[in-house]
This record gives sequence, C-alpha cells and structure tokens, in this order.
Amino acid sequence: MTDAATDDFKISNLFSLEGKTALVTGGSSGLGLIMAKGLLLNGARVMIASRKKEKCDLALEKLQQYGDCSAMAADVTDAGDRAALVSAVESTFGSLCILINNAGANWGAEIEDYPDTGFAKVMNTNLNAVFSMTRDFLPLLEKAASAEDPARVINIGSMDGIHVPIVQRVPTFAYSASKAALHHLTRTLAVDLAPKNITVNAVAPGFFESRMTDYVFEHFKADIEDDCPLHRVGRPEEMVGIITYLASRAGAYTNGTVIPVDGGTSISKGRRPWTE
Ligand SMILES: NC(=O)c1ccc[n+]([C@@H]2O[C@H](COP(=O)([O-])OP(=O)(O)OC[C@H]3O[C@@H](n4cnc5c(N)ncnc54)[C@H](OP(=O)(O)O)[C@@H]3O)[C@@H](O)[C@H]2O)c1
Repeated sequence: MTDAATDDFKISNLFSLEGKTALVTGGSSGLGLIMAKGLLLNGARVMIASRKKEKCDLALEKLQQYGDCSAMAADVTDAGDRAALVSAVESTFGSLCILINNAGANWGAEIEDYPDTGFAKVMNTNLNAVFSMTRDFLPLLEKAASAEDPARVINIGSMDGIHVPIVQRVPTFAYSASKAALHHLTRTLAVDLAPKNITVNAVAPGFFESRMTDYVFEHFKADIEDDCPLHRVGRPEEMVGIITYLASRAGAYTNGTVIPVDGGTSISKGRRPWTE
C-alpha cells in the first residue's frame, strides 16, 4: 500500500469538500440552511435559493461568516426562475459539483377537504421541480463531473415516502406520495445519469426541527419521540453528516440510494410495551 493510499483514508481528505461548489434549494431556512452551513464549514462554495428575497437575505447574513456564500430568490417550480438560477450559478461558479434539491412543501387536510390545488402544489414542488432542476442544471453538472469525482445530485426525500405517516394526525396525502415518487425518480435518474459521471441519491429524513414541523412539534413531540426507536428527533449535525458523505470522495461510489436518517422510525411500528 502506498503513502498516497494511506492519505486517501484520512477523514480530513476523504470527507473534504474543499474546492467544491454547491447549490441548495430551500436554503433559506430549516434543513436547507443547516446543510448550507455544513457545506461551507467543510470547504465548499455555496449558493442558496428560495422564493422569498427577504428570507434569502437574512439567511445569507447568517451564512457568510462560515465561507463563500451567495443567495438568489428563485421559485424552483418556475421555468424562468430556474433559467435565471442556472445563469447565476454559471457566472458565480462556472460549473456545479453538488445540487441539493431540498425545497419542499406540504399540505394537510382531511380527504373530503383536500383541494386539487393543494395536491398539485405539493407534487409540483417536491417532485416535478426536482426533475426540472436536475435537467436544467445538467450542463453545469456535466462540466464539473469526472469519472474520478462525479458531480452529485442529492434529493431530500422523507421517511414519509417510505412508510405511511401516522403521527401528524392531519393526513398529508400529496406529501407522502410526492416523496415516495421522488425516491423512485432518484433511482431512475441515477441509472440515466451515471454515464455522464453524475450520481443521484436521496436522503429520507425523519423529524427535524424546522418551520415545516413547528406545528407537530408543538402538539405531538412526545408521540414523535415515542414513535422513534431512538426516542428522539434528529439533530442538525446528522443531516450535515449524511450530505457531507454523499458530496465528498467518501460517497463517490454511492449511487441510486435512499438513505433514511430517522433513528429507525420508518422501519419500526413505534415502541409498544409488551403485554400478556
Ligand atoms: N423538517 C423535517 O422534519 C423534514 C423531514 C423530512 C423531510 N423534510 C424535507 O426537508 C426539506 C426542507 O424542509 P424543512 O423542514 O427545512 O422546511 P422549511 O423550513 O419550511 O424549508 C423549506 C424551504 O423551501 C423553500 N421553498 C418552498 N417552496 C419553494 C419553491 N417553490 N422554490 C424555492 N424554494 C422553495 C422555503 O423558502 P421560501 O418560502 O422562501 O420559498 C424554505 O427555504 C423539504 O423537502 C422537506 O420535505 C423535512
């Protein structure tokens, strides 16, 4: 074994994102903001994008202390906004090593009251836009990609795309369907884009604190924890850990996977006491 190979095994080298460029959609809050911070702290240059300019500006103020970050207001469901985002990434970075499709939406209502518009909005944001973003960014991803170091697409799915969500109380028909479809789209894209040296994986988080989970955390935190074999919600660094793996040299051979980061919630049926 050569010394070079030994150095290759060191965490500082294996998991480094030094010199990489990344775009995080929905990077202005919640998990997107956490992942953007993690990417910056591990050496990547980052652009975040979300619909509201004020939110982007506020997030940028927080993120700039950690590294080279920029922000742009863009709606991932809008073709014109996506084209503008492609131009901004091209002029800022020249190419794109890591695309994190994280922007997401949810809609909860009983079936009798569940509107078509709500269903379509969730599907458009969580599924259709991920496909469109990946397609529109292909030229910039290909430019950064090599057989040695593929470009990475990381889709943020959900454990609710693996199991039927029960803790939320209010049904979220479109959300769980959109995330299940996103997991399968991830596999299809992984096979299709591998010849271009682009890997595609999904992370399926369990419950993490964010604006999206504010309400359920306030009302059902105990049930959420009880439903998880580890009896807790996720910690921010646990999202940073998985995306750092997927985006770095360590994850270069991982392709077409859906990785749950949920404390085992999606494979359990909740904690139940033994009865006679
Ligand atoms: N938190 C959890 O427990 C959890 C669990 C499983 C999966 N997830 C997934 O994680 C992702 C992030 O969610 P979060 O919990 O961090 O929620 P969040 O705090 O509500 O963040 C959602 C982000 O997406 C942006 N966004 C929404 N629609 C957009 C659009 N059409 N175009 C561009 N940006 C858009 C929002 O900003 P603007 O309002 O400015 O657009 C915001 O920055 C989602 O895909 C969600 O499904 C979260």
